[in-house]
Amino acid sequence: MPNNSKSRARIALVFAATVLAGWSDAAFAEEAVSWKLDVQPILQARCVECHKPGGQGWEASGLDMTSYKGLMTGTKHGPIVIPGDTLSSNLLVLVEGRADPKVRMPHGQRPLLKQQIDIIRLWIKQGAKDN
Ligand code: HEC
Repeated sequence: MPNNSKSRARIALVFAATVLAGWSDAAFAEEAVSWKLDVQPILQARCVECHKPGGQGWEASGLDMTSYKGLMTGTKHGPIVIPGDTLSSNLLVLVEGRADPKVRMPHGQRPLLKQQIDIIRLWIKQGAKDN
């Protein structure tokens, strides 16, 4: 029956639209990451013991992670966070161990959890704001 196949086509169309809408929601419903609530606590727990004035990481690199300003200033070689640029931000390169695994951070300690790295990546992607 022609009528029947028409309505079947319509059902298929509605189904496809629903699936697409759901998919795009999942792809774009990105949560806003906060420096204060989400990122700083990770760095505080895993990095600051060495990257504060007088610490061994600070001595070696000049990187002071006790504040947003210190993190954004970076090392003696320059910034390690480039807002919006997850590929070339060294902060991410080092915690992911994408460079030489010997310089993976935290230095000589268990790597960050994947979830923690995801938070840092999302924060950089969203502009590395002081929020
Ligand atoms: C146990 C001490 C220690 C901890 C904890 C630590 N670091 Fe380091 N960090 C160092 C030392 C030592 C260096 C210099 C030697 C090197 O580059 O391997 C350094 C260097 C760095 C550099 C500069 C690398 C370069 O190429 O100039 C960055 C960026 C960095 N650390 C980020 C971090 C981050 C992010 C964390 C936390 C996830 C962290 N560090 C935790 C000791 C530490």
